[in-house]
Amino acid sequence: MVCYAPCRHSDGVGMGRWIRVAKAYDIPAGEQATVDAEGTPIAIFNIDGVYHAISDICIHLGASLGEGWIDDHLIICPWHGWRFDVRTGASDFSDQVCIKRYEVTVKETELYVHL
Ligand code: FES
Repeated sequence: MVCYAPCRHSDGVGMGRWIRVAKAYDIPAGEQATVDAEGTPIAIFNIDGVYHAISDICIHLGASLGEGWIDDHLIICPWHGWRFDVRTGASDFSDQVCIKRYEVTVKETELYVHL
């Protein structure tokens, strides 16, 4: 079995810093975008007014997950259909595979992710 990104490394919590990446109103409810956080591509999703942030780079072959489709809380990769829960990073086909996620917050009108 190939382990692309063990889930235990995907909590996104720890030392680091908050990076402003967008105006919150530029990603309204039901929308998604890919942002550049000082060189790190991150896909951001606004689902029912709650923001979620994960790596934009699919761990399979590198498609942009920000260009994928959302089904409930699952992002579906546009290239081969791998699916990840944007709340946890977990895939729906293996508990050994997940995508890195990031903390995200809004301060006033600015959207920040924690690197
Ligand atoms: S690149 Fe995402 S499933 Fe293949």
